[in-house]
Amino acid sequence: AKTYEHIIVSTPKPGVGFIQLHRPKALNALCTPLILELNSALRDFQSASTIGAIVLTGSDRAFAAGADIKEMADLTFSAAYGADFIETWSDLVTFLKKPLITAINGYALGGGCELAMMGDILYCSNTAVFGQPEIKLGVIPGAGGSQRLTKAIGKPRAMETILTGNNITAKQAGEWGLVAKVFETPEECVEGALKTAEKIAGYSQIAVKAAKEVVNKSQDLGIREGVEFERRVFHGLFGSKDQKIGMNAFAKKEKAEWTNE
Ligand code: CAA
Repeated sequence: AKTYEHIIVSTPKPGVGFIQLHRPKALNALCTPLILELNSALRDFQSASTIGAIVLTGSDRAFAAGADIKEMADLTFSAAYGADFIETWSDLVTFLKKPLITAINGYALGGGCELAMMGDILYCSNTAVFGQPEIKLGVIPGAGGSQRLTKAIGKPRAMETILTGNNITAKQAGEWGLVAKVFETPEECVEGALKTAEKIAGYSQIAVKAAKEVVNKSQDLGIREGVEFERRVFHGLFGSKDQKIGMNAFAKKEKAEWTNE
């Protein structure tokens, strides 16, 4: 794997790509160089045929404490608008067709919370603290927070969180459905995420890709169009080798050997 300055990249389990944000001096604040590195690592995993799922985490103390406030402090409107500031990373995951699990420990604030929510599956530990504190800085969420948080926990709670800048505890995140699972410790959270990723990576990549695509469509389409879209993609899978392999293996009580074709 390549070496980076602000992230650590590895493949700790079969089929699993692992990215740890590593900018301890600034609680993993998401400066531009870090975002560029993250982008590059995600793209490498996306194009690696051996990788079936990806886990993204931070440190025990912070998933990420937000966009880099010091970098943004002197930004002007024309510079931000002209360069479409943050566009490069508010859509960091749109090219990513493989499942991304975010394992969140410690602070996930502002852009950190937004990055966490870009995960297809969110896991956290009891140490996690979520929030969109941008209002305290005189701005608003800028990397999808107002949209993804509202979809995840509903308007009243999202509105309260974004207007007050109050934090969301791990317990609330679990109860409100912001995360799929709350673990006791950071170690268990990361281990749990890696295990889930390994499980997903053990299935046909074709089916996994289709599953992610149809679930994501539910965020944009009405129920009727969504169900129709799902059915079309479902039909399409009967053109894959892995559908034949999977169903024949079931009938023969054998383990399916996927070809990803
Ligand atoms: N940007 C730049 N530096 C940051 C940072 C950030 N978002 N968050 C923390 N740091 C730096 C601190 O400046 C500090 O650096 P120095 O040691 O050089 O002073 C170091 O990280 C450690 O932080 P603290 O000393 O503040 O640690 P703490 O334990 O006392 O507090 C904290 C932790 C509550 C998370 C606090 O650091 C904090 O409030 N951070 C900012 C959180 C925030 O407002 N995030 C939103 C950013 S805006 C955004 O993200 C916009 C968007 O939607 C895209």
